[in-house]
Amino acid sequence: MELVNPCRMLQDARKGGYAIGAFNVHNLETLRAVAEAAREAGAPVIIQATPGTVKYAGADFLMAMAQTAARRVNVPIALHLDHSSDLDTIKACIAAGFTSVMFDGSKLPWEENIALTRQVVAMAREKGVAVEAELGRIGGREEELQVASKEASYTDPGEAVAFVAATGIDSLAIAIGTAHGVYKGEPQLDLDRLAAIAARVEIPLVLHGASGVPDEAIKQCIQRGICKINIATDLKLAMAAALRETLAANPEENDPRRYLTPAVNRVKEVALTKMYLFGAAGRA
Ligand code: 13P
Repeated sequence: MELVNPCRMLQDARKGGYAIGAFNVHNLETLRAVAEAAREAGAPVIIQATPGTVKYAGADFLMAMAQTAARRVNVPIALHLDHSSDLDTIKACIAAGFTSVMFDGSKLPWEENIALTRQVVAMAREKGVAVEAELGRIGGREEELQVASKEASYTDPGEAVAFVAATGIDSLAIAIGTAHGVYKGEPQLDLDRLAAIAARVEIPLVLHGASGVPDEAIKQCIQRGICKINIATDLKLAMAAALRETLAANPEENDPRRYLTPAVNRVKEVALTKMYLFGAAGRA
């Protein structure tokens, strides 16, 4: 199968009351782990990369790896650019063949966020690429993107309606109390706010910062309308822990295929567990 635009899988998920896992990958190993998990679960999946990863690996390399993965497995895979506030990076990823992009103008004043988001939507439409945008500010740290808790702000339902209508985006990332990175305490989610947004916004809603959120809270978010769930940190933690264990137990090991394999398996296991938790397994 070729890479797909994720709109259809997200709309199906919203109608069906489940969520698609969107997993941040960094290299061949993590990308293959996520694609393998999707194949094993029979789940549609979104593979995503931050601008930092695009800088590290190259949009063309990421595209070639994702394309190959999509052709090898018979479940729908979309390739998404996560959290970009830079139009040139977005342009380059669309040109490379990404099937979805996120424009993050959440730190901009309202009018400017709308104007730039519209520009991205116009650019993406020409190539049949989907656009996600963010309203409200999700706290925490994701690579170069850092939002202090005092700068974080929740999404207002009325503003969400107006923003979607003014921009023509395909999915909306909302801020309801999750944060990127590792949580210090248990996150307190504003589920009433989520329900109020979902009652008024028809397009798919996206939950960022979902690593470390308890399973029960994730299920409640899906019940209230979340249909794309972003996971980065949980995969990073799994990979790093497995690598540390393997190298500590085998200090002489120097073959990347041998010390990376347990790490890849651990990443795959985490992705697989999330796909079942989100209800996406068997939906391909
Ligand atoms: P976590 O790192 O908390 O999983 O967040 C991922 C994310 O939202 C990517 O945009």
